Amino acid sequence: MGKMWAGRFAKELDKTADDFNSSIHFDSRMFKQDITGSMAHAAMLGAKNIISENDAKTIIDGLSAILEDIENGTLQFDMEAEDIHMFVEAELTKRIGDVGKRLHTARSRNDQVALDIRLWLRDECEEIIALIKGLMRAIVKKADENKSVIMPGYTHLQSAQPITFGHHLMAYAMMLSRDVTRIKDAVARMNYSPLGSCALAGTTYDTDRDMVAKKLGFDGVTLNSLDGVSDRDFCVELMAAFSTVMMHLSRFSEEIILWSSWEFKFIELDDSYTTGSSIMPQKKNPDMAELVRGKTGRVYGDLFSLLTTLKGIPLAYNKDMQEDKEAVFDAVDTVKKCLEVFTPMIDTLSVRADNMLKAAKEGFINATDLADYLVKKDMPFRSAYKVVGQLVAKCISEGYVLDNLPLDAYKEISPLFEEDLYEFISLETCVNKRISKGGTCPDSVTQQIKYITEFLND
Ligand code: ARG
Repeated sequence: MGKMWAGRFAKELDKTADDFNSSIHFDSRMFKQDITGSMAHAAMLGAKNIISENDAKTIIDGLSAILEDIENGTLQFDMEAEDIHMFVEAELTKRIGDVGKRLHTARSRNDQVALDIRLWLRDECEEIIALIKGLMRAIVKKADENKSVIMPGYTHLQSAQPITFGHHLMAYAMMLSRDVTRIKDAVARMNYSPLGSCALAGTTYDTDRDMVAKKLGFDGVTLNSLDGVSDRDFCVELMAAFSTVMMHLSRFSEEIILWSSWEFKFIELDDSYTTGSSIMPQKKNPDMAELVRGKTGRVYGDLFSLLTTLKGIPLAYNKDMQEDKEAVFDAVDTVKKCLEVFTPMIDTLSVRADNMLKAAKEGFINATDLADYLVKKDMPFRSAYKVVGQLVAKCISEGYVLDNLPLDAYKEISPLFEEDLYEFISLETCVNKRISKGGTCPDSVTQQIKYITEFLND
């Protein structure tokens, strides 16, 4: 295909080099943003008399017809075009003739690409936020149903203190709420129009960049033309935010995988979100959770690939930057797909409260509460800690747990123990007593649910 810059060159671009250089096979995804940006630019050129109002109208009508034809499938992308920007301009000129050649006045492809990716990410972030909120809603629903379901809470994956399943789930809702605000913050910083940077130095035409920015829903314009076209920090920031979403989903996945093992059996995933084995008939594998955990590395990789691309390139635009899009697209697609499968997986899982309680009863999980019992009777905490340590050792060697060790045995170690200790260390008491703000008691979980529900309705 004849290049737009053909005048300067005596020979055509080599075919292999042309293919290597081309980005239309991935950046055609931004056709809508590219066309919308061009329409706003043309309107400004007309309003400022840089081109005639008539020409601006012809261009805008032509662009709008191209958009319609792409959307309804009558216009296919020409894979010979170098990129989406060249394709749209060439198609426009094909349709409206020489007037189409006026569109590129006072702008550069560097402006267009910096604009399109911002517009594209802005739309995608809205969808990602909606998906995260959907997952938060599923979590809140499960947490509400399981506010009083006792399970072991762990540190070092060792049974530590009793908590409720509702409390455990709400931890993820809190993390995800920060993911939402992280994305929103990054979008707010990104939302400045680079259009009109004119490749690197600005322009001699009397343009109105603010008018274009306003038309496209930006909060303003970038204030340095080199910066406007050449930084991709907003992509880095958003991909770091997406990586954090994935990190949260991955930790959650790891727990889901553990909890659905035969050894834990705390939950059972719905058949529609598990797979069987080709050889072992008993298997029900948590593939979705494993894949989410696996795809987390992929999103981190996208982030690092972009950071590495950017680290050595001088200002302003360099072709290296064409590499930004596939990483950004992949990260966005991956986060979306993971959220789309994760939410119904959470929504449909069933909780085995009996197994959670059984596990909680096994691990001396109320030892801290027993020490607190002695502290209430004025023993210093460190001494109480030691007494309880001795009692745990005794239970282990004699086959008891703290709940069924006879009172005499308790009294042998400290006369402060009375019959009421059993009530004091029952798992229900342990959980219900943790009334500190953000603690595990059912009332606190209700407060957390209230906070997240308000966040979701905001
Ligand atoms: N396809 C290019 C990209 O994705 C568009 C910008 C090209 N600009 C240029 N001066 N070659 O980055």
